[in-house]
Amino acid sequence: MKQKINVGMIGLGTVGSGALRILRDNAELIRKRAGLPIEVVKIAVRDLSRDRGINVPASILTTNPREIVDDPNIDIVVELIGGYEPAKELILAAISRGKHIVTANKALLAVHGAEIHEAARRAGVMVGFEGSVAGGVPVIKALKEALAGNRILSIYGIINGTSNYILSKMTDEQRAFDDVLREAQRAGYAEADPTFDVGGIDTAHKLAILVNLAFGVPVNLKDIFTEGITAISPLDIEFGKTLGYKVKLLAIAKMHDGKVEARVHPTMVPDEYPIAKVGGVYNAIQIVGDACQDIMLYGRGAGSLPTGSAVVADIMDITRQIESKPATQAASVNSAPTLQPMDSISSVYYFRLMALDQPGVLSQISGILGRHRISIAQMIQRGRKQGGSVPLVIMTHTALEHDIQKALVEIEALDCVTEKPVLIRVEGEEPA
Ligand SMILES: NC(=O)c1ccc[n+]([C@@H]2O[C@H](COP(=O)([O-])OP(=O)(O)OC[C@H]3O[C@@H](n4cnc5c(N)ncnc54)[C@H](OP(=O)(O)O)[C@@H]3O)[C@@H](O)[C@H]2O)c1
Repeated sequence: MKQKINVGMIGLGTVGSGALRILRDNAELIRKRAGLPIEVVKIAVRDLSRDRGINVPASILTTNPREIVDDPNIDIVVELIGGYEPAKELILAAISRGKHIVTANKALLAVHGAEIHEAARRAGVMVGFEGSVAGGVPVIKALKEALAGNRILSIYGIINGTSNYILSKMTDEQRAFDDVLREAQRAGYAEADPTFDVGGIDTAHKLAILVNLAFGVPVNLKDIFTEGITAISPLDIEFGKTLGYKVKLLAIAKMHDGKVEARVHPTMVPDEYPIAKVGGVYNAIQIVGDACQDIMLYGRGAGSLPTGSAVVADIMDITRQIESKPATQAASVNSAPTLQPMDSISSVYYFRLMALDQPGVLSQISGILGRHRISIAQMIQRGRKQGGSVPLVIMTHTALEHDIQKALVEIEALDCVTEKPVLIRVEGEEPA
């Protein structure tokens, strides 16, 4: 029987300092709830002299993470440095030495999660990764425990705060993407290089983790269709409003006939859906299970204390289970469903074309759509500009992605279409 649990932390940045603060400030409560005291005995960083806004004895700081991985007295290694290497190598080395792992590293898990979980299963150790998706929102625990008796039917997530902040501002203030992005960078809501966030890659990383957990599909990141928000214009947001929709960057996973759809793209969501009301940097995940039906988790998807709270919960969970030696938690992939190719998904689609305001345009476009079995639910034409182009918006009935893409190529090649058409997928009820 252990007297206490020794934790080694690799990384003491935003998340690491939040986790350390919680472990200190709530030490007594954590001891009671976890059943044992938890002590952070060593912390690896790059720069020993950096002020972290938290007092750390110099004796427990090191610049060599190997001192943590190789220390036989450390029970749990908390990896909070991010990126692929040396994070992966350190985690695998710690696992091979029988240490349990806590990480918030979504990029690593999205790409190397299967290998890490398999190594942990073989070594009989646990891997906690609550902080990797939606920061302080306990979605991993919900899927693993609270909803464990359900077959998950679908997941819709707003799981990138930066993109949601930008889209919310563009919607509320009718401003352009670049303008809001610059403001978000100044306010610290967007990185200097925002590609991962606004390009949908960060959302795809998190979706890969969720799909693996919810459906047992070891999804390859490059098989997740990923489209970011950089091409979203205030004009499309305004048309969305007119039609009763908000534009959100959604991570979508659905189970159909033994196949799983997994995609990330800007999506028009009906105004009355709870997820359409999630604004600013907040995250939300709507999960539909066959028994629980639909639930929504909502909260702060990033930040020092919210993500630190998820990390601490994993440390406590492992502490509680260390003595009881539970079965490992890696998702079984036996008889796992397969991932559905993007071109075979079906959806309602919003198109915006910039087309010359001249006779015959509508019949050419509707002719192409008709030949590709795409039926029009609604059409809006704004403004009259003799000889110039005007926006033409088309909302389709449910159609196949494959047919839509074929039709788009033909429409874009028309002489009367003056700009690359905009396409946004639509969730919700089939339009009348
Ligand atoms: N920030 C969030 O809100 C958030 C939310 C969810 C998940 N995450 C994930 O959590 C992880 C940590 O993110 P973060 O925002 O806390 O990062 P961060 O603020 O950049 O902190 C990284 C820490 O790792 C240390 N470090 C980096 N490379 C190292 C190495 N080779 N050896 C030793 N220490 C090293 C750095 O040391 P120095 O301090 O000396 O430079 C720093 O303390 C990432 O995987 C991220 O994706 C972050």
